[in-house]
Amino acid sequence: MCGIIGYVGDKQAAPFLLAGLKRLEYRGYDSSGIGIVDARTKSFDVRKINGKIANLENLIHSQPLCESSTGISHTRWATHGAPTRINAHPHVDTRKNILVVHNGIIENYESLREKLQSRGHRFVSQTDTEVVAQLIGEYYHPSRSSAKPEDLLAAVRKAVKQLKGAFALGVIAADQPGVLVAARVGSPLIIGLGRGEQFIASDVPAIFQHTKKIIYLKDGQMALLTPQCVQVSSFDGHKVQPKVDTVNLQIDAVQKQGFAHFMLKEIHEQPQVLKQMFQSRVKHGAVVLSGIHLTDQQLKNIKRILIVACGTAYHAGMVGKYIIESLANVPVSVDVSSEFRYRNPIIHQNDLVIAISQSGETADTLAAVKEAKARGAKILAICNVVGSSLAREADAILYTHAGPEIGVASTKAYTAQLYMLYLLSLKLGMARKQLNPQLGRKLLKGLKHIPVLYAKILSEKGSIAHIARANSHFGSFLFLGRNINYPSALEGALKLKEISYIPAEGYAAGEMKHGPIALIDEYRAVVCIAPESDTYEKMISNIQEIRSRKGKVIAIATDGDTTIKRHAPHVIYIPQTEKLLTPLLVALPLQLVAYYISVKRGCDVDQPRNLAKSVTVE
Ligand code: F6R
Repeated sequence: MCGIIGYVGDKQAAPFLLAGLKRLEYRGYDSSGIGIVDARTKSFDVRKINGKIANLENLIHSQPLCESSTGISHTRWATHGAPTRINAHPHVDTRKNILVVHNGIIENYESLREKLQSRGHRFVSQTDTEVVAQLIGEYYHPSRSSAKPEDLLAAVRKAVKQLKGAFALGVIAADQPGVLVAARVGSPLIIGLGRGEQFIASDVPAIFQHTKKIIYLKDGQMALLTPQCVQVSSFDGHKVQPKVDTVNLQIDAVQKQGFAHFMLKEIHEQPQVLKQMFQSRVKHGAVVLSGIHLTDQQLKNIKRILIVACGTAYHAGMVGKYIIESLANVPVSVDVSSEFRYRNPIIHQNDLVIAISQSGETADTLAAVKEAKARGAKILAICNVVGSSLAREADAILYTHAGPEIGVASTKAYTAQLYMLYLLSLKLGMARKQLNPQLGRKLLKGLKHIPVLYAKILSEKGSIAHIARANSHFGSFLFLGRNINYPSALEGALKLKEISYIPAEGYAAGEMKHGPIALIDEYRAVVCIAPESDTYEKMISNIQEIRSRKGKVIAIATDGDTTIKRHAPHVIYIPQTEKLLTPLLVALPLQLVAYYISVKRGCDVDQPRNLAKSVTVE
């Protein structure tokens, strides 16, 4: 959601910014823009446009930008105001001294706008961001002959103190080539340190080819960047000695590597991701979760677990409830993060809150975590992105290390979250002496074998593609599952709707007769998740109820199940595994069905409309 990149250095800024914007495309956006400082005229040269980055590239090709080594750029995901050229970033103040890019939401923008208008500022866009440019512009008026970097820093400092909400900002001044100011509250922003050049960005993939040295700016911090140095300070003006991290991202991780889409590549990466998780987390038959920072005694003392997450991560949390309760005998509640925060949650001593998030930047989950912390909870995060806001906010962290997920639809991050929840449940069950050691060993063996089973499913993906294409014309889908695969049904529906725009609902199969059955007719496709399980017979009854109402059934069943063929015209088989582990296997055909339907319908698989990879606004 909104991507920022900025540059000060000794090279041309525009090509760098354009290339960086392309690396941030995965975050989701609907317009983009670049603004640079023309050192000769002490003015800005700006290009903005709605739609894809390719449009911006074409615009710059037909109307080249001037030479400059100072600039900021942005991909905008519209919140305040339609995705038009005028509303695209960067935004300039009335006197055309200040240029700003912003990620987040300024909650008090209306009152600020009124005050600024009454003082003569003229607004041209509908955005909240424009107030930031105007506000900084109001405080920035050095005489043109003596403008100093500190003047811009001071103006930004005065402005940010008045802003409420979440923001990551990149700011440049027309009369100060070679100076860039950044500030952050709530929205992610990193600084890249180079030799004779410095960068700001929303995320590592935008700049990792230019530097591996990164500062993760913290909430309430700002930075002054010049080609030679970076100074970090608090909003109060105190100097800060920032921690410099070294990132270890390989170029392969952010390229399609011959796959048609990132989503397909990431689906194929799953066996390797899970294999690595097993190898690094299971030693001599025991689960080792070093990041958990809890002793066996503390794990024993846990009375209740509260899971908070959004979207796909929430579905992983729902599976987590089934497995933690059955293996560790701890009651678990699962909340959508945006609801948790406002429901006055009750938190007792010895409750553990687990926050699950791929990006670690989801504003709703961060807000839920802050709420839980304020109520005295200990937070354990399950997160993919190292150094993210969630990782810093949590008391303990379990990284899934699934590598960058570029496709907007979560695939490998989801199965890595599930896998981590299995490992955590086993660890909890063993530490609390609630888990039969024989069952523990069987499940560990099953988990070890999952990557091999994934490879088998992937080798048969042609038949899944065939079934998906044969059903891609349906105007709506229902996904049904029971027990531990009820969340799988929700996830299957989410995956399909987000990348193919087909209305799809997930339901607990037992609930079908309480309402959704009214929808069943020959125009409705129903995906019935029916692996070997204690509720298998009940699923078969559901399938019959659907068939007798002419619904089109696509079943997901276990290898060797010949009965199901009599009831369902399309069957996708998954290999045999422990019943408790089936959500891990079911996930794969659900991802592939969504993928092939999306491709068949000509949708933008990796960047579906209206969606953002990292949802940094509440
Ligand atoms: C769906 C999807 C979203 C995310 C959700 C939470 O495919 O990707 O539903 O799961 O926005 O994101 P994270 O995990 O980054 O907190």
